[in-house]
Amino acid sequence: MKTLLDTTKIGSMSLKNRFISAAIGDAAETGGHLTETILKKYETLAKGGVGTIITGFTLVDEMEGSYAIPAMYANSFVDEYIKMTDIVHAYKANIILQLVYIGSYVMGDPGNRSILGPSAVANINNGIVPKEMTISEIKDIQTKFAQAAVRAKKAGFDGIEIHAAHGFLLSQFLTPYYNRRSDSYGGPIENRARMILETYSTVRQAVGNEYPIWIKINCTDGIEGGISVDDFRYVCAELSRLGVNAIEVSGNWIDRLQDKTPYFKDEAAMISEDNQVAVVLTGGNRDYTQMEQLLNNTNIGYFGMARPFLSDPNLPIRYEKEHSKRTRCVSCNACLAPENVGSCILNKSV
Ligand SMILES: Cc1cc2nc3c(=O)[nH]c(=O)nc-3n(C[C@H](O)[C@H](O)[C@H](O)COP(=O)(O)O)c2cc1C
Ligand code: SF4
Repeated sequence: MKTLLDTTKIGSMSLKNRFISAAIGDAAETGGHLTETILKKYETLAKGGVGTIITGFTLVDEMEGSYAIPAMYANSFVDEYIKMTDIVHAYKANIILQLVYIGSYVMGDPGNRSILGPSAVANINNGIVPKEMTISEIKDIQTKFAQAAVRAKKAGFDGIEIHAAHGFLLSQFLTPYYNRRSDSYGGPIENRARMILETYSTVRQAVGNEYPIWIKINCTDGIEGGISVDDFRYVCAELSRLGVNAIEVSGNWIDRLQDKTPYFKDEAAMISEDNQVAVVLTGGNRDYTQMEQLLNNTNIGYFGMARPFLSDPNLPIRYEKEHSKRTRCVSCNACLAPENVGSCILNKSV
């Protein structure tokens, strides 16, 4: 029988257990620089025994640099991140840098700069209408993901995760609602998937065959005109064929904030049966026994938790030593309120 505490390998990466601390965005200093609070957060998580940590989303392009989140769009950031990876590695945990291009799902004030999207379709969340990207802008963003990934590798990250979920730019390319293009990046799924697949391949070429590349992807967008299950299956099959190391299955988690069950389990199980790729199930994992059953009854091999690690970074140690079965998080969602983003009201240590 497989257990959540097994030591496993995904490609060249060893994982000391099957728990993944899923991304929780960080508030950076102006210019995307890391703070002591951010470094402390990752130290606390690593100390708590989780096998692998995915960082909060990190900008690949200076054009989006006005957002107060961490950035990796210049070589000058590398030294700051070396501190982060050293801290985490001291506790024998892995750390993966999540890379994002935000696009029209704008947070904060974008000022007068142009906002890019697959098509000029108003964002459902904020009404912002992006400019339809040219082919050269598409290629430029792909290159920026690759450059940021090379910097991540230099900074000692154990891998990178391409953020292609949650309505940010890459996931918009997949979504018929946002992607109304008539060129080779729009229309049938083979075209709508092209941005994600080319971004993956550009990153792969830049970092080499051995370096772990993970991807976070929506199995549903939760909007009318969003992706179908077949779209999701197609893009996962192609990513798997191209050699992505792990697929983290997510979706419209914001609509499921009260749900304390793993709501994307069926979709994650489906792609875990379809493909030879490590699958991480994220969203609503709260019960140890249920995760263990999924581990043994499907090919899902890893379990991402975001809010449970915010509320209790020592969760893996508690699982191991105290055999506790539930997480502490009560899904009150106070950690999403602007005044305490990324901080749990039950636990101020992260
Ligand atoms: C405060 C907060 C910040 C988040 N930031 C990110 C992020 O930077 N990148 C990302 O992919 N997901 C982000 N998420 C989503 C989580 O990674 C995860 O998909 C979601 O919370 C569902 O998992 P959970 O039920 O274990 O919390 C965030 C979630 C919360 C609560
Ligand atoms: S603030 Fe609420 S939802 Fe967020 S981690 Fe803490 S208990 Fe969970």
